[in-house]
Amino acid sequence: MALTIGVPREILAGEKRVATVPEVVEKLIKLGFSVAVESGAGDAANCSDDTYRAVGAQIIEGAAKLWAASDIVFKVGVPTTEEVGLLRDGGTLIGFIWPAQNPELMQQLAGKRATVLAIDALPRQLSRAQKMDALTSQAGVAGYRAVIEAANAFGRFFNGQITAAGKVPPAKVFIAGAGVAGLAAIGTAAGLGAIVRANDTRAEVADQVVSLGGEFVKVDYEEEGSGGGGYAKVMSEGFQQAQREMYAKQAREVDIIITTALIPGKPAPRLITAEMVMSMKPGSVIVDMAAERGGNCELTEPGHAVVKHGVTIVGYTDLTSRLAKQSSTLYATNLFRLAEELCKTKDGIVDVNMEDEAIRGLTVIKEGNITWPPPAPKPSAAPPAAAKSAAAAPAAKKGGHGKSSAPASATSTAVTFLVAALMFWFVGANAPAAFLAHFTVFVLACFVGYMVVWNVTPALHTPLMSVTNAISSIIAIGALVQIGPEGWIRWLAVAGIALTAVNMFGGFAVTQRMLAMFRK
Ligand code: NAI
Repeated sequence: MALTIGVPREILAGEKRVATVPEVVEKLIKLGFSVAVESGAGDAANCSDDTYRAVGAQIIEGAAKLWAASDIVFKVGVPTTEEVGLLRDGGTLIGFIWPAQNPELMQQLAGKRATVLAIDALPRQLSRAQKMDALTSQAGVAGYRAVIEAANAFGRFFNGQITAAGKVPPAKVFIAGAGVAGLAAIGTAAGLGAIVRANDTRAEVADQVVSLGGEFVKVDYEEEGSGGGGYAKVMSEGFQQAQREMYAKQAREVDIIITTALIPGKPAPRLITAEMVMSMKPGSVIVDMAAERGGNCELTEPGHAVVKHGVTIVGYTDLTSRLAKQSSTLYATNLFRLAEELCKTKDGIVDVNMEDEAIRGLTVIKEGNITWPPPAPKPSAAPPAAAKSAAAAPAAKKGGHGKSSAPASATSTAVTFLVAALMFWFVGANAPAAFLAHFTVFVLACFVGYMVVWNVTPALHTPLMSVTNAISSIIAIGALVQIGPEGWIRWLAVAGIALTAVNMFGGFAVTQRMLAMFRK
C-alpha cells in the first residue's frame, strides 16, 4: 500500500520554514504517495492549509494525529525529544539531524526502531547528489538574504548613480569566504550594482568569484587553503597574520562586509577584529553569517543586529527563515528529489537501498540500527590536482602502473619518438614534393592544436571545442575544391564534407546551448 508522507508544523522558535510546499505536494502525489500536512504548518511560509488542500493533501489538526498518520515524516528543524516521542515505532524520518552533534537524539531515534535519513549527511561530493543538497540550497538563500539585510541597514544605494542632485558612488562590498553562501552573496551584491571584492583561503574559488562579478583579493602569503572536498582547513599563523593585514585594509576601504568563513567542525575563524570595526566608515554594515558558530567578527551578538562604533553588525542566525517561502520551496524540492531516488517504482513505496552511495551516506539509522558514520566514500571524480602534480600528470597518464610508471613512461616516450622520427624520414625520402609541403603543415597543425588544447583547463574544454569545431570546419573548403567529375577522390571529398558538416553544426549547436545557460 502507498505510504503517507507527513509534514508537521515546525516547533523550534523562529523557524518559519516548512518541509514541503503545495507545488511539490502535487509531485509527491504523482510519485504515488499520500501527503498529510499539519494544520498551520505552512502559514509562516505563505502556504495556507487551503493551498495544500487544493493540490490533494490531507490537512490534519494537531501534531500527535499528524505524526501518528505518517509513515514517513518530512521535517526541517532537528526533531525535539517530544517529536521523537510522537514518531511511529518503525517510522521513517527525513530532515536535518546533524548526527555528530546530537548523539542523544540518535539513540532516541534508534530506540524507536526508526529509519532516519539526515539530509545534512548527504555525500555532497557526488554530482548525482547535488539535486538533493539542502545545505547548498539553504546556504544560497541565506547568502542572498545577508545582502538584503545589509542593504536594509545601509543608508545608501548599492549602485552608482548620476542624478540631477549629484553623483553617487557605488557601495563597496567585501565578502569573506566564497563558499556556497559567499558566492550567492557575491552574485546578489554585484546584481544590485555594488563593487564586490571577496577572499577565501581556497584559491580555487577565485574564478567563481570573478564569474559572478566580483574581484578576488588574494592574501599576500603562499599557502594552499583547501582541506579537501570543497572545505577549508585551519591556516598557519603566518598566513593568518597576512590575512589580518589584508582584512584591516579592506575594512578601512569598504562600506559593507559580509562574512561567511567556515571550517567544518571548528569554531568560526575570527577574521574581523574590534579595531577593524572601529576603522570602518560610520554607517558601514557587517553581516556575520557565522554568528551561530561564534562569529567571524569579534563584536557580533548572535541573533541580533547591534550598532557598535557607528557600524551596524547583523548577527541573525535565521536568515533562511527570513525568506521562508523561497527556502521552503527549495528544501521541498531537495526532499522531493530524494523521494524520487527512494521510490524509483513510482508506486509510493520506498526502498532505502544501502548499495546506493548517496542513500547510504544519508541513512544514519536503518530500522533502529545506527549506520552513521558511513564508510569512506569511494574516490570518484579526481580531486583538482595540485599545481605541482599537474605538471607531472601528462607523463604519468600514458605510463605503466605503480612505482615503475615514471621510468616506464620515459622509455615508452622515447620509443614513440624514435618510431615517429623513422616514419617521417620514410615519408620524406619517398613521398612527392607537393605532398611533403602539405604534410608538414598538417603535422605542425596537429602539434599546435595539441598544445593549445592541453594547456586549457579541463573545465573550459567544452567552450574551446565549440569554437575549434567551427574553425576546423575549414576542411569543408578543401573538400569542395576536390569535388571533381569522377573517381574515388570525389567520394572521399563528399565524405569529408559530410563529416565536416557534423563538426560545423555540432560546434554551433554546443555554442548555442552554452550561451543559453547564461541567458536569463
Ligand atoms: P561553505 O563551507 O560552503 O563556505 C565557507 C567558506 O569559508 C569556504 O569557502 C572556506 O574556504 C572559507 N573559509 C574558511 N576559513 C576562511 C578564512 N580564514 N578566510 C577566508 N575564507 C575562509 O559554507 P556555507 O554553506 O557557505 O556557509 C557559510 C556560513 O554561513 C557558515 O558559517 C554557515 O553556518 C552560515 N549560515 C548561516 C545562516 C544564517 O542564518 N545565519 C544560514 C546558512 C548558513
